[in-house]
Amino acid sequence: MNLLIMGLPGAGKGTQAAKIVEQFQVAHISTGDMFRAAMANQTEMGVLAKSYIDKGELVPDDVTNGIVKERLAQDDIKEKGFLLDGFPRTIEQAHALDQILVDLGLDLEGVINIVVDPSCLLERLSGRIIHRETGETYHKVFNPPADYKEEDYYQREDDKPETVKRRLDVNIAQGEPILAHYRAKGLVHDIEGNQDINDVFKDIQEVLENLK
Ligand code: AP5
Ligand code: MG
Repeated sequence: MNLLIMGLPGAGKGTQAAKIVEQFQVAHISTGDMFRAAMANQTEMGVLAKSYIDKGELVPDDVTNGIVKERLAQDDIKEKGFLLDGFPRTIEQAHALDQILVDLGLDLEGVINIVVDPSCLLERLSGRIIHRETGETYHKVFNPPADYKEEDYYQREDDKPETVKRRLDVNIAQGEPILAHYRAKGLVHDIEGNQDINDVFKDIQEVLENLK
């Protein structure tokens, strides 16, 4: 299956992507994760990405489109399919993706759109913790790890309240035209994101079982 997962920052894209990948074995392609890996390795792209991400702004389209194209061209994609998480995030990226898929002979089969009330997102992001060793995402209150030790977890730099506010504004402004683009193609499946993590996944599972 070739899929997108969309939703505002903190909607639960990464959380649900981990479950989808486990069950359906598609390749998870998160542009945010790719940028954070480049930032950790202090590559040229990482240094550039950091200057945008730390302010809650989007990384320029040419950089982002380039890394997605490179990843989608790898051998495993035709075999496993993909789940793009956090891309496209501008209408220009959506148009670029249409062309990339044509060039690579791939078809998009569905867009999972996690719909949440924006007022809950600050709480979700300020409580998000990530396990240093595995990279797994948890939440201090909503999804606490079994044996929580503070030193084993970290919080994302861009989860500071002032940066979160900017991320939400940027993503709300950019999101609608992208959804309209995919709705016109009949690809969008809206999922209620204001429910327990496992219930969100049940709804996604139902959609994906029908797409298989
Ligand atoms: P990215 O990493 O994609 O961040 P984001 O879109 O802001 O989304 P998040 O990863 O913060 O949230 P999520 O939806 O994955 O939520 P999660 O599952 O973790 O991008 C970061 C930055 O990189 C961007 O700001 C931009 O600068 C740059 N970038 C990336 N892609 C780009 C692109 N295409 N173009 C340009 N720039 C780009 O969940 C959040 C928390 O809530 C967790 O603690 C989780 O445990 C909890 N939670 C999840 N689901 C539930 C639930 N149902 N109930 C209660 N709690 C829940
Ligand atoms: Mg994420």
